[in-house]
Amino acid sequence: GRVAVLMGGWAAERKVSLRSGAAVFEALIRKGVDAIAIDITDSPITALAGHQVDRVFNIIHGRGGEDGVLQSVLEVMKIPYTGCGVLASALSMDKMRTKLCWLGYGLPTPKWYLLKSADDLDACIERLGFPVIVKPAQEGSSIGMSKANNRDELAKALEVAAEFNCDVYAESWVVGKEYTVAVLDGKALPVIRLETPNAFYDYEAKYNATTTKYHCPSGLSDGQEQALQQLAVQASEVVGVKGWGRIDVFIDESGQPQLIEINTVPGMTDHSLVPMAAKQAGIGFDDLVWRILETSCR
Ligand code: DAL
Ligand code: MG
Repeated sequence: GRVAVLMGGWAAERKVSLRSGAAVFEALIRKGVDAIAIDITDSPITALAGHQVDRVFNIIHGRGGEDGVLQSVLEVMKIPYTGCGVLASALSMDKMRTKLCWLGYGLPTPKWYLLKSADDLDACIERLGFPVIVKPAQEGSSIGMSKANNRDELAKALEVAAEFNCDVYAESWVVGKEYTVAVLDGKALPVIRLETPNAFYDYEAKYNATTTKYHCPSGLSDGQEQALQQLAVQASEVVGVKGWGRIDVFIDESGQPQLIEINTVPGMTDHSLVPMAAKQAGIGFDDLVWRILETSCR
């Protein structure tokens, strides 16, 4: 059957998605798949009309593609697609409410505070102190995020994040090491440790910098690595993740893991992390793409 690689989208991560999409499309062609690439610039219904599509490889990051909206359309059109269903997509796209799920299940995640307006700053400071990291709840690739060390910076960070038209929250800054764990078809791949000279692993560090360091193998002991993998699998299961995903997590100074977020359409660019973890597990890029595609019919 014919596979449509849906990429682009109209949200803030559009450029990243076009890079991921091109890589996925080329891999499918090398695998001999009858694939077409479709850049979704607005309505997926219009974009899909007129194409005979048997399956979708969804590689649209962020709003409109990763958040359950596209998934709902594909459900109605009865086209199987890669990745999570409607609920897990919508929930994971909202990093703040994902944390509620984890807490409800007893999984560790840093404290946070919802910032609805500048009136909330004092209560936030009282609850979390400093430093904090301020995030738009429904964005990706660290877009709109900034660290705040004092009240002025917090006010400014709220303004910056609020431009992305979604909920904004402040999260306690975790001092420790940053990791990410890819989950493919319910199983964790090798853990990657990230190291950046920037204040945090921001957009620049993710896609452009040559100074970002990726450690895979992660440098953790076997026991720690397995514990983190198990936590990532649990963290994705409780949210209902299917197919594939990538869980971002810190290990704080006391050795306690702190879950940050789930990406349900993770990056597949040449800088991206899921391909790196797969490679460490002996799965090349083309085979990885193939295996993700296979999960679309589960
Ligand atoms: N949101 C980006 C694409 C990622 O998580 O890889
Ligand atoms: Mg993300």
